[in-house]
Amino acid sequence: MLFSWIPTASFLFWNRKRFFVRMRIEAIVADIMTVVLVGGTILLFPEFSLKQTEAANKIKTIKLPPPMVKGKISLEEAIKKRRSERDFQDRALTLRQVSQILWAAQGITEEKGFKRAAPSAGALYPLELYLVVKKVKELEAGVYHYHPANHTLDLTLRGNYQTPLAEACLGQMFIAEASVSLVIAAEYERTTAKYGKRGLRYVHIEMGHVGENICLQVVALGLGTVTIGAFWDEEVFHRLSLPKNYKPLYVLPVGYVK
Ligand SMILES: Cc1cc2nc3c(=O)[nH]c(=O)nc-3n(C[C@H](O)[C@H](O)[C@H](O)COP(=O)(O)O)c2cc1C
Repeated sequence: MLFSWIPTASFLFWNRKRFFVRMRIEAIVADIMTVVLVGGTILLFPEFSLKQTEAANKIKTIKLPPPMVKGKISLEEAIKKRRSERDFQDRALTLRQVSQILWAAQGITEEKGFKRAAPSAGALYPLELYLVVKKVKELEAGVYHYHPANHTLDLTLRGNYQTPLAEACLGQMFIAEASVSLVIAAEYERTTAKYGKRGLRYVHIEMGHVGENICLQVVALGLGTVTIGAFWDEEVFHRLSLPKNYKPLYVLPVGYVK
């Protein structure tokens, strides 16, 4: 207000104030547009953010052998035989067995398509599969992420993570004895972006489908498993270095039964 008594100076001062207010509004609008653009991109193309995290984590990629579509026992026998098993032999699995289990869980079953072994609300596929390896003949110990589209595994962590995983599962140490564990995680946003709160229910239903496919495939291969729901979510998340939006929901240790 120092120059307000001079008409020209007062005019200049008023214009400067307007200029700064306009600059602030423009900055806020630019911020909002950035948030909308980045948020929209992540919502519409979740693989975009995913690929960046994965690229940072990936150590190497393993091509899995193609799955078999004929087994040694009937579906009815597998259903009859399935039991929760908690006593595992210290014996290595083969890459072929692991490949078969991953395929039964989330493999592509549509000719030249993208649809998978288990149903998914809106075919949005919110589940991600991790394989924690202690003993598999053709694989080094570590944590692997399964990619259904090309039936491959990406090694994300080296070393035996079965013991840290067992500790995170409220200390259910029989998990550490199994040759591998499958960890199923969900990115809820893929389903809730379309179905809202009801999408939470859909993700959990889908988890059940995948879990049962694993159980039956494991039995058909002459192996055993148990579905584990009791664990500290944050512990599993941190110990396996899962990407930010992934919530672990189910753990299935697999091996030869004693
Ligand atoms: C959602 C869910 C969570 C479970 N969590 C555990 C678990 O943390 N530890 C465990 O030893 N068994 C767990 N079980 C396995 C059950 O104890 C088992 O399925 C039940 O005793 C029936 O036995 P069966 O699977 O042999 O038919 C879980 C099962 C389900 C469906």
